[in-house]
Amino acid sequence: MKKILMDCDPGHDDMVAIMLAAASDEIDLLGITTVAGNQIGEKTFRNALRILTLINRKDIPVARGFDGPLVRKLVVAPEIHGVSGLDGADLPEPAVKPLKVHAVDFIIETLRKSSGGIYLVPTGPLTNVAVALLKAPDIKEKIERIVLMGGAVFDSNTTPAAEFNIYVDPEAAKIVFESGVPITMVGLDVTDKAIFNFDDIEKLRQFNGKVSRVVAPLLKFFGNANKEIYGFNGAPLHDALAVSVLINPDVVKTRFLHVDIETKGEFTRGETVADVYGITGKAPNADVALELNLPLFNEIVFSHIKKLDESLEI
Ligand code: RIB
Ligand code: CA
Repeated sequence: MKKILMDCDPGHDDMVAIMLAAASDEIDLLGITTVAGNQIGEKTFRNALRILTLINRKDIPVARGFDGPLVRKLVVAPEIHGVSGLDGADLPEPAVKPLKVHAVDFIIETLRKSSGGIYLVPTGPLTNVAVALLKAPDIKEKIERIVLMGGAVFDSNTTPAAEFNIYVDPEAAKIVFESGVPITMVGLDVTDKAIFNFDDIEKLRQFNGKVSRVVAPLLKFFGNANKEIYGFNGAPLHDALAVSVLINPDVVKTRFLHVDIETKGEFTRGETVADVYGITGKAPNADVALELNLPLFNEIVFSHIKKLDESLEI
């Protein structure tokens, strides 16, 4: 079993990522921290609590993190995730008692108390992770790998040059990519292909379980928003793919590349500049996912949501 800490900004695809992590036999989900991104911090925090309430996992610790990036103004994504950050269906009111500590301190203390080998799985802007690394560099030796959803080599979504999570807080991303901690970058090159299409959503709706009957309309909303803006035939489950890499690494193929984060460009803020030909001569710092096994990913999503449905039938 892989011990993981998730840092997220739910967010429809963050919701599926949390569900996969909570349901998987391969993962021991030690805790969830939240950050502002898809919506303001208060909303992403509340959404995480609502998701855990829905799947009846009140045992998983939740701590709230930063309400904005290190130095820039917060950018949110209501056009994709709605005003609540999880528009499309009614999730239960939170019945989970969150921790009172800040996300950064929860991450640091959890790592310091551990014997190591812990995976960090950020699926939102990297503000919390960056500050934890700055505040307590000693935690690096306790981190097995950072498996993050973010960036892209040949794709973009927030500007022609950048992906949302990196765009929101490029300074934080730069700190993480220069930290020396092993990184797997699960970017848009694969996550924009990790589409849960409208037939998949209808199949999920027909499961008609306590979880699937809520997730299906949520993904319908998310899929429609992505269809309208990007022309996708459904919901790109960006963050769920990052967690899937820990469930079955065969779900993507990666290349070990040097990746720099653009923090100064007038048109390129937040770009993940990947040296695909080794032109810079700089040592690689990230395993970058470039190929996707979509049928395997699809099976992971369906099987884990089915498992959550069954766990609530008892
Ligand atoms: O660009 C996609 C990423 O930004 C996903 O993590 C999505 O949830 C948003 O946070
Ligand atoms: Ca996210």
